[in-house]
Amino acid sequence: ALRATFAPKAQKENQNLTRNVQPQASYKVAVLGAAGGIGQPLALLIKMSPLVSDLHLYDIANVKGVAADISHCNTPSKVLDFTGASELANCLKGVDVVVIPAGVPRKPGMTRDDLFNINAGIVRDLVTAVADNCPGAFIHVISNPVNSTVPIAAEILKQKGVYDPKKLFGVTTLDVVRANTFVAQKKNLRLIDVDVPVVGGHAGITILPLLSKTRPSANFTDEEIEALTVRIQNAGTEVVEAKAGAGSATLSMAYAAARFVESSLRALDGDADVYECSFVQSDLTDLPFFASRVKIGRKGVEALIPTDLQGLSEYEQKALEALKPELKASIEKGIAFAQKQT
Ligand code: NAD
Ligand code: LMR
Repeated sequence: ALRATFAPKAQKENQNLTRNVQPQASYKVAVLGAAGGIGQPLALLIKMSPLVSDLHLYDIANVKGVAADISHCNTPSKVLDFTGASELANCLKGVDVVVIPAGVPRKPGMTRDDLFNINAGIVRDLVTAVADNCPGAFIHVISNPVNSTVPIAAEILKQKGVYDPKKLFGVTTLDVVRANTFVAQKKNLRLIDVDVPVVGGHAGITILPLLSKTRPSANFTDEEIEALTVRIQNAGTEVVEAKAGAGSATLSMAYAAARFVESSLRALDGDADVYECSFVQSDLTDLPFFASRVKIGRKGVEALIPTDLQGLSEYEQKALEALKPELKASIEKGIAFAQKQT
């Protein structure tokens, strides 16, 4: 959980809020697409992290005001704004974690793959700049379609000779956040206790919640499994339809991305107990990329967690086989796009 830096305790004791929250470490984080629907609340949440010393906000427009606004929060990190391609290199130099929510979101009736034509080029260009300016950084890709944009990022990094598969992450945390919320509601569990691994990818049936691996263990009827699985898979569309043309999930996504950033920073800071689900290069299945729980350490992915994929229910095993052709095609589409660029 995010360690909120405006704890009521500090207020009661009438302390200067910043005195209580000296940074325990000093990591630099860049958000690319920081003026967007996700970027703005994400930047605010990252500003609350005591692990961050520098927050670099980049967009092609409108980021000056966002940075000025957020910079007035009396939390330790220094906020700088960067506008347009000419300022991207300076934004990225020395950065430890780069988060990429740049790109267009869905409107009702669209699939995530419908975003490919615009977002593929955006991710290609941003990752090229990451390769040139902070090749050792953790890269968190949020831009959709994640099933293709992560393979694009990998190919670009390979072309630049700086690909470290341990440091490239597709952000699927929102799927876990949703699964935890929906399962806790359905089974009347304490939200804070619930953890459901979600594997596969991040679109439609490629999103596979492993309800049989829910912790604490819970029993589901077949109807509950079907309803929960479909709801988790369609939760993005649920938000797209509710927003009725005004975009897709931004606030819950910012929350989820901030959790993933915080986990990465804790790992960089030496916490040996950091586990998250993420879409990464993987040998857990026959697909080259696959979302699963991973252990994150100072150097990135320390281990993939294979146990979640063992002893699956019949429903999950079937769903796993069913998702593979779609996920494979999306991965190959991304790789082909990136290879065409050379
Ligand atoms: P948005 O349109 O509100 O914001 C996108 C921002 O990206 C804008 O500020 C825009 O100026 C900026 N941008 C465009 N091109 C850029 C470039 N070349 N360099 C830097 N910035 C650029 O969209 P949003 O709601 O914030 O969503 C962003 C992306 O995140 C979409 O592709 C969406 O599908 C995806 N998304 C992913 C998840 C996930 O779980 N991974 C969840 C929600 C949304
Ligand atoms: C989500 O899951 O909310 C995102 O991938 C955005 C979308 O298009 O659904």
